[in-house]
Amino acid sequence: MKVNYLEHQTKVNPHQTGLDISVSGLTKYLDGKPLYEDFDLHISSQKITCIFGPNGCGKSTLLNMISGLVPIDSGQLSFGGKPRSEVSLGYVFQNYRDALFPWLRAIQNIEYPLLSAGFSRLKRRARVEELIHQFNVGFDLSRYPYELSGGQQQLVSIMRALATRPHVLFLDEPFSALDYEATLAIRDKLQDVFVETGVTIVMISHDLEEAVYLADHILLLTKRPTRIAERVVFNASRPRTLETLSDPEFVRIKAHSLEVFRREAS
Ligand SMILES: Nc1ncnc2c1ncn2[C@@H]1O[C@H](COP(=O)(O)OP(=O)(O)OP(=O)(O)O)[C@@H](O)[C@H]1O
Ligand SMILES: [Mg+2]
Repeated sequence: MKVNYLEHQTKVNPHQTGLDISVSGLTKYLDGKPLYEDFDLHISSQKITCIFGPNGCGKSTLLNMISGLVPIDSGQLSFGGKPRSEVSLGYVFQNYRDALFPWLRAIQNIEYPLLSAGFSRLKRRARVEELIHQFNVGFDLSRYPYELSGGQQQLVSIMRALATRPHVLFLDEPFSALDYEATLAIRDKLQDVFVETGVTIVMISHDLEEAVYLADHILLLTKRPTRIAERVVFNASRPRTLETLSDPEFVRIKAHSLEVFRREAS
C-alpha cells in the first residue's frame, strides 16, 4: 500500500482542540497470524495516553492503523464523531533519522505541512515563531537535519507534527534513540506544550518510567494476539518534575504496571 503520511498533517485544526478516538472490534492478521482480534480501545481527548507492551506486539501497527497508513481487516474506528477526512493527526515516527526531509532546512521541514495546507509565507512564519517560543528552541533552524544533533532533529520532527495544530499527536518511541539529557529536555517541553494546548497525545514508549511520568493513562498490552492487559490511571498534577519520580503514588503505579507487564508479556 502506498501512503503519504503528510496527507494526514495537512488538515488544519484551527482551535487545537483534542479528540476522543475509539476502536472497536478491530481485527488484523499479518502473514496469516492474528495480531489483533476483536480489539477495543478508547483514547480520551486532551489526555496523554502511553502505550507499553512487549516487542513486536503491534504497537506501531496500531498507530499506523488508526492513522490510516495500514489497512485494518475489520472493525470500526471513530474520531469523536468527526468524519475521518476532517481529523488532523500529527505523527512522529519511531525512526527520526528517516523522518525529516534531508534536502530541506529545519525551518522548512517544520513549515512543510503548512505549505501543503496552503498557508501564506507570513502565516507559516508566524506559526513557526509560535512553536519556537513554545519549545524554547535555542539552536539555528536554518541548518539542515544532518547538521543537527539527534535531540535537535527529534525536536524538529515534533514541531513539524504540531505545526497544523492537530487534534491528536502520535509519537512512536520518540526518545528511544536519544541520550538521557536530550530525553529529559524534550519530554518536559512536550509536557509543557500539552499543558498549554491540551492536544490529545498518544505515545508509545519502551521505558515504563517515562510512560508513567508522562501519562494520564497507561495502556499495558499483552503479547500477540494483542489485548489490553490493563488501563492504568495516573492522576498526578502537572507539570510533573523529577520529584514526581519519587512520589509514592508514582512508585506504586510503576511497580504495579511492571507486575502486569511481567505477567502478560511472558
Ligand atoms: N508489513 C508487515 N508484514 C508482516 N508482518 C509485519 C509487518 N509489519 C509488522 N509486522 C510484524 O507485526 C508485528 C507487530 O509489529 P510492530 O512493528 O507493530 O510491533 P511493535 O510492538 O511496534 O514492535 P517494537 O516494540 O519492536 O517497536 C511484528 O511481529 C512484526 O514483525
Ligand atoms: Mg514499534
